[in-house]
Amino acid sequence: MLARVTGCTIVGIEGRMVDVEVYLSSQLPSFDIVGLPDAAVREARDRVRAAIKNSGFQFPQQRIIVNLAPANLKKEGPQLDLALAMGILQASGQLQLEDIPWAILGELALDGKLRAVRGVLPMVMAARDASCRNILLPLANAAEASLVRGVHIIGATSLAEALAILSGRMVPPPLPKGRSNKVKEGADFKQVKGQEGAKRALEVAAAGGHSVLMSGPPGSGKTMLARCVPSILPPLSEEESLDTTKIYSAAGFLKENTGLVTKRPFRSPHHTLTPAALCGGGRSPRPGEVSLAHNGVLFLDELPEFRRETLEVLRQPLEEGYVTVTRLMAAYTFPSRFMLLASMNPCPCGMLSDADTECACSERQIHNYRHKISGPLLDRMDLFVEVARLRYDEVAGHGNGEASETIAKRVARARQRQRERFMQDGLSCNAQMAPQHIQKYCEPDAAGRDLLRHAFSRLRLSARGYDRILKVARTIADLEDEPKILPRQLAEAIGYRQVTGL
Ligand SMILES: Nc1ncnc2c1ncn2[C@@H]1O[C@H](COP(=O)(O)OP(=O)(O)OP(=O)(O)O)[C@@H](O)[C@H]1O
Ligand SMILES: [Mg+2]
Ligand SMILES: [Zn+2]
Repeated sequence: MLARVTGCTIVGIEGRMVDVEVYLSSQLPSFDIVGLPDAAVREARDRVRAAIKNSGFQFPQQRIIVNLAPANLKKEGPQLDLALAMGILQASGQLQLEDIPWAILGELALDGKLRAVRGVLPMVMAARDASCRNILLPLANAAEASLVRGVHIIGATSLAEALAILSGRMVPPPLPKGRSNKVKEGADFKQVKGQEGAKRALEVAAAGGHSVLMSGPPGSGKTMLARCVPSILPPLSEEESLDTTKIYSAAGFLKENTGLVTKRPFRSPHHTLTPAALCGGGRSPRPGEVSLAHNGVLFLDELPEFRRETLEVLRQPLEEGYVTVTRLMAAYTFPSRFMLLASMNPCPCGMLSDADTECACSERQIHNYRHKISGPLLDRMDLFVEVARLRYDEVAGHGNGEASETIAKRVARARQRQRERFMQDGLSCNAQMAPQHIQKYCEPDAAGRDLLRHAFSRLRLSARGYDRILKVARTIADLEDEPKILPRQLAEAIGYRQVTGL
């Protein structure tokens, strides 16, 4: 007795179709699963057995062999439970259908209830791409699954219900409407008093997608400023929104009954995080912080506290816009194009750059503190910003800073200009320019070249630092709608590289 059911699994952040073949034979009772199942699939055996019994069906007292194909695909997770149970019921004649023309996914609880699984969005996309347009899954995942157009979704709450629906004895329950993904209202620049220089730098950074390192004494507002940045980034396009949602789905970060991620992510991982948590990892690799920040902001608060080896792994995502996690059997690629923000105090006590308070650190302490940040990472920062402590009149004032909404409009216009310029280049913002683009789009005039020559020797710039100045200057010109980079725009960009001591 043979039954075939189509199931789905998730590999990295991509969904894959799995053929579940169930074969029953009249030998001593046993239950084997072949086709490279991992520990989770083996655990599925126990869940499936209990769920079938507790849903009022017979668990066949026969030899059961389940073959999961393709064999070379590493299946993981409990997404295959429901398909396994369906196959067993079909093979043992308790479900009588010609065939099961559905893709089936979901985890079973021991009592036969269906549980939501992670990775539904990419799995349903994979089913659609495989022309499998009818999908049966846990009702709690239905809202997420409905984000995919051109598929027919049925949600069930238990194994018994799924069976009743498939055999036409029950009308499928109405699909819940996805609650929009509630994100806490982010901070707004209008709450930030003073700090005009830092705000301007963050506007430039947001406009060109540049990375920023803020340095300043405790309490000057670095964390607050960083939290405001998502509010001035352009809104997510539909495609970006779907990409980001896919990552959150695969990471298991989407709450039940929620739909698209519609706000740019802001990730602020603690400095104790491991390289794997930053870039993705685990036995069946899941996306890390750099991917959860994809299309948004990655904020490394208190940069010198991070472990050096953790920061080292940032190189690939910063350079390429994705990370690769390799395992024995496969390599996983996760998108990770984010805007990097970082903050630090200028020295361990934090007062080095403060005009009124004496710094209590020794030279050695200061040296060691700064030495903790790796040179290559510093070299990849586009803008350095000093955030000074507020003066009394600034703190006591009401602070009528510009609202994020107004700044966001300027940023959006500058981004639009970049999109038009890079139409043929496949880039989306100035920060992504490679040397050939810089040559093509950032040619300074004679006065600009003079400025650069001086800055080069005075700031002891690296070639990379030189290119970064040109990219930032391009963004400043874009904010002012200037086709050519003017000397004063270059001067501003140079200003963002001179930070005392770094
Ligand atoms: N420019 C500002 N305008 C309004 N409030 C501010 C400003 N700067 C600081 N604050 C207030 O001070 C609090 C602390 O600021 P914040 O945490 O951003 O400082 P920080 O620079 O990150 O300090 P640390 O180096 O200790 O992390 C904020 O939550 C906010 O209430
Ligand atoms: Mg802080
Ligand atoms: Zn100090």
